[in-house]
Amino acid sequence: MTEAWRPDDDERRGALGPVRVRVPAKVNLHLGVGPLRRDGYHELNTIYHAISIYDELTARRGDTLALTMEGEGTGELALDDTNLVIRAAHALAGYAGVLPHARLHLRKQIPLAGGLAGGSADAAAALVACDALWGTGLSRDELAGIAADLGSDVPFLIYGGTALGTGRGEAISPVLARPTSWHWVVAIADVGLSTPTAYRELDRLRDSGAAGAPLGSTDALLGALRQRDPRVLARTLGNDLQDAALAMRPALADTLKAGEAAGALTGIVSGSGPTCVFLAANAADAERIAAELTAAGVCREARVAHGPVAGARVG
Ligand code: C5P
Repeated sequence: MTEAWRPDDDERRGALGPVRVRVPAKVNLHLGVGPLRRDGYHELNTIYHAISIYDELTARRGDTLALTMEGEGTGELALDDTNLVIRAAHALAGYAGVLPHARLHLRKQIPLAGGLAGGSADAAAALVACDALWGTGLSRDELAGIAADLGSDVPFLIYGGTALGTGRGEAISPVLARPTSWHWVVAIADVGLSTPTAYRELDRLRDSGAAGAPLGSTDALLGALRQRDPRVLARTLGNDLQDAALAMRPALADTLKAGEAAGALTGIVSGSGPTCVFLAANAADAERIAAELTAAGVCREARVAHGPVAGARVG
């Protein structure tokens, strides 16, 4: 009698079929930028918020590590070892002591270089997907620890929701708020902005005395998140990088004005820009504002979204 075929230990661990992970974009409801540190990063005091614009990463078993993609940024984004998804897979494999073998496919809806942490989201998705594929069984906190070495925003996208980020943005504590869904309009620009350049521009504006006063504490925003009134929340949103984004891309002022003219409660630049996000009073207003912004020609595309939503998740 021949012995029944048995998968080896490695193959028995983890998923045999494909693992699909959905990961959201982030906006910063409050982005307080402190001084430049000796390591080249700025000290941050930020409130991250995950919104319902998603990338999707599918991981399958393979004999090597390979990445393919479709959607936003196809043809622009390098798929080699410089890609954060590949770096994330290597980092997890190194940590867990497994071979970094997987066939990864990315479906991108989050724009590149938009201030929505698209690249960081994909790295978070890769950690969660490969952990499930390889059966390495790490906790979210362990994945967030690996994530911090990949980029300042990556740990937040492992958790999602609404959270305080300190340090260079990688130290995350959840914000306990009432279960409210906020309605956003996200105005995406034709051409992205570089994050390091936006930070350098802020330093230059501050050195020359041309930057606005830095944001204060997050207390007002945290108080507003505990209430259910978007008008109260609107008064507390702020971004220290907004002056830098507007200096580099003056036309964003027209986008912000157009959103408010269309009925948004307020608009801010998201992260290092150039995406602008607008808070709407309700879902119907958000739809109308998005249509008006698209028709006004002040952005490539306006999408509605809600938040907070969960971080990178299998399913
Ligand atoms: O951490 P991440 O790789 O996403 O950061 C990209 C760049 O943004 C950094 O190299 C740095 O120039 C800038 N940055 C910063 N301070 C932070 C986060 C990012 O100056 N807290």
